[in-house]
Amino acid sequence: MRILLVGSGGREHALAWKLARSARCEQLWIAPGNPGTAEIGINVELDASDAAGIVGLATREQIDLVVVGPEAPLVAGISEVCEAIDVPVFGPSSQAAQIEGSKAFAKALMAEAGVPTAAHHVFEDAAAAHAFVADQGGTWVVKADGLAAGKGVVVPADHRETLAAISTVAATKAGTRLILEEKLSGPEVSLLAICDGEHAVPLLAAQDHKRIGEGDTGPNTGGMGAYAPTPLLPADQAQALVDVVFTPILRTMASRQIPYRGILYAGLMLTPDGVRVLEYNARFGDPETQALLPLLKSDLVDLAWRAATGTLKDVQLSWEAGAAVCVVLAAANYPDTPRTGDPIQGLDTLPADVLAFHAGTRRRADGALVTAGGRVLGITAVEADLAQARQKAYAAVDQIHFDGMQVRRDIAVQGVR
Ligand code: AMP
Ligand code: GLY
Repeated sequence: MRILLVGSGGREHALAWKLARSARCEQLWIAPGNPGTAEIGINVELDASDAAGIVGLATREQIDLVVVGPEAPLVAGISEVCEAIDVPVFGPSSQAAQIEGSKAFAKALMAEAGVPTAAHHVFEDAAAAHAFVADQGGTWVVKADGLAAGKGVVVPADHRETLAAISTVAATKAGTRLILEEKLSGPEVSLLAICDGEHAVPLLAAQDHKRIGEGDTGPNTGGMGAYAPTPLLPADQAQALVDVVFTPILRTMASRQIPYRGILYAGLMLTPDGVRVLEYNARFGDPETQALLPLLKSDLVDLAWRAATGTLKDVQLSWEAGAAVCVVLAAANYPDTPRTGDPIQGLDTLPADVLAFHAGTRRRADGALVTAGGRVLGITAVEADLAQARQKAYAAVDQIHFDGMQVRRDIAVQGVR
């Protein structure tokens, strides 16, 4: 099969690595890709959101299957434009991707489907939200309705911070509509499922580490590391959750004539009162994918094809025994304004069985590899258990250097018992 992968981050490097291992992958193109994917397939200089460019490439290269990494092209409608030229896409339509693109849409869907989630209220502007909080009192989680590049959610400590957060969130690019949510507590787990519009096949449960600092302190990031499986949600419990968090959503979306095909990512909080869905994403998690795919034995091309063509019924995944840990190496000043251009050393010294997924890297004209984004690399090790996987991942991390490198030393600690 001739496959086109859209995106350029660490998640896409992991997707490219896994797709290329399939006997069904004849040739792989990545638009635009990164220096890591350049070693696996053919990078094409095209913006991930350039729908016309993607369609042109798919036609020219006679692509059989398009796999979409990030949410922005999905929300912009890349699936529809590819389907219009009869190329199956592993990724939802723009309408279905609203499950990530609009929190108000997602909350209404959850309510209709009966999915357990935090109680919430929607407001058309900051003034209305402000008046509600001033009247009701209490502490509320404040969320922008639209995509806000990770800046759209504030979890305030108290009532006063709630009022301040309303103004901050209303000032993001996501638009003025706001959501106030009941503040929940508990560990967070990422549960992803491959969906074909009707059936959902869950992956192993993974845990991300969103804050920049050890012990979950400091500002939120895209994710500083991940591991799988997490003992917080063993495989049998994850399987049981399919009928709680995925199937009802697929059924409700199908009944609204917006079938969901692709990866559906449920961000779960394990509260003292049971599992609650905090959010859905319309794509693979980053960096969860860099921990999950190295454990997946099943053929990803086959799974993506089945999801895209509605033939996932009765599919079961097979997994390597053991666990995977992915540690993210971030640039100086991440998550604010990451510094770029720092030369990266030591990648060539890593053991052959450690995976170094590129995210924000760039090849200079002289061939040197330099930093080019906030999250620079994801270093993944797979071992018989989490403790060993951690040890191996961090031993590899210690061989890599670039100026200003930021690393959390406590990735997967919560999972090691
Ligand atoms: P979201 O983008 O909706 O996943 O929110 C980002 C982060 O904010 C989550 O990963 C949680 O850590 C936190 N969060 C979101 N909603 C809530 C909530 N209702 N209660 C407590 N924390 C939340
Ligand atoms: N790792 C969090 C996300 O991909 O949204």
